[in-house]
Amino acid sequence: MDGSPIPVVSTGSDFFSPQFSRRKIVLVAGGAGFLGSHLCDNLIADGHSVVCLDNLQTGRMENIAGLLKNDRFHFVRHDITNALPWDGPLDEIYNLACAASPPLYQKDPIHTFRTCTEGVLNLLGLARRTGARILQSSTSEVYGDPEVTPQREGYRGAVNTVGPRACYDEGKRAAETLFWEFGAHQGVEVRIARIFNTYGPRMSPDDGRVVSNFVVQALTGADLTLYGDGMQTRSFCYVDDMVAGLRRLMAAECSMPVNLGNPGEFTMRELADRVLRLTGSRSRIVHHPLPVDDPRQRRPDIGFATSVLGWAPTVPLEQGLALTIRHFADELKTLPLREAELHHV
Ligand SMILES: NC(=O)c1ccc[n+]([C@@H]2O[C@H](COP(=O)([O-])OP(=O)(O)OC[C@H]3O[C@@H](n4cnc5c(N)ncnc54)[C@H](O)[C@@H]3O)[C@@H](O)[C@H]2O)c1
Repeated sequence: MDGSPIPVVSTGSDFFSPQFSRRKIVLVAGGAGFLGSHLCDNLIADGHSVVCLDNLQTGRMENIAGLLKNDRFHFVRHDITNALPWDGPLDEIYNLACAASPPLYQKDPIHTFRTCTEGVLNLLGLARRTGARILQSSTSEVYGDPEVTPQREGYRGAVNTVGPRACYDEGKRAAETLFWEFGAHQGVEVRIARIFNTYGPRMSPDDGRVVSNFVVQALTGADLTLYGDGMQTRSFCYVDDMVAGLRRLMAAECSMPVNLGNPGEFTMRELADRVLRLTGSRSRIVHHPLPVDDPRQRRPDIGFATSVLGWAPTVPLEQGLALTIRHFADELKTLPLREAELHHV
């Protein structure tokens, strides 16, 4: 696909059909990933047409299998670091393309950085050409290992520019700058979501994020790997709440970064205990050394999101974990596990 025009890959008749004229044509980059696939589901359920662009680096076709027969859904395998010639109209672009878990984004750090810079430039150029509004999935990692809690949008962060996490953290910071510039000086309507840890069904069982690690370990009877003393904290947002927040932000009149996450804060030890209780597992908890630059605490201040978007998460951790555990229990029956590289995000 690289370099050649991205065809309007509709095989069905509905894609640009007048009956859908009130509906939007939306491009979701990274749409075969965990968050992206839920967003595609949500957009399709609302009657929109979706072009899902993904290089399948960490995404999976299983995530979008249920959408492939829909006339209003089209999948294109493409890496956003390559040119994005487009020959159709577009109303909105969601950029979710980027490996999100440390073991995976650290596998090819230069590509991760290029995804956040060259890839983002390509998508911003597409937004400028088509007049589409564009939303960037930024991250709480722009705050690095924060010295203040909870983190507000005005906090500028404590990020290491040269550590193993820098390709992602600094890449996402650079992407925010590119978005801001295109918004301020190029006439592009930009939206920036600073996403805090999000979990739920379709997380890859072996991508090394803490929720999927603990759940898979508990369900398979393996030891739960707890890094450091387990007193570091994270805040966990269920995926349905996050998708609702992203949709609201896209629709809102707000070009400044907005925190999206669940402010409930838990230590990793508490999370491990909850997973063990909900799964009824007899797995042991074992301690491993903390990874380099692992943040000690994470908690969003979502006051801005609440006032600008009228949004707040609704799914409690206990309920979201139960749904996630059910999903992984089903998936583990059918999927052979690849070797896990276990790490907390
Ligand atoms: N899930 C979270 O907790 C979280 C937190 C903060 C930010 N985010 C951001 O949200 C987005 C989605 O995260 P996710 O959790 O769904 O991760 P994911 O790895 O499941 O999804 C990322 C998707 O992007 C695709 N991709 C990666 N590089 C690409 C490229 N160069 N070109 C085209 N496709 C590419 C992958 O194949 C995958 O389908 C990411 O940008 C991530 O940084 C997620």
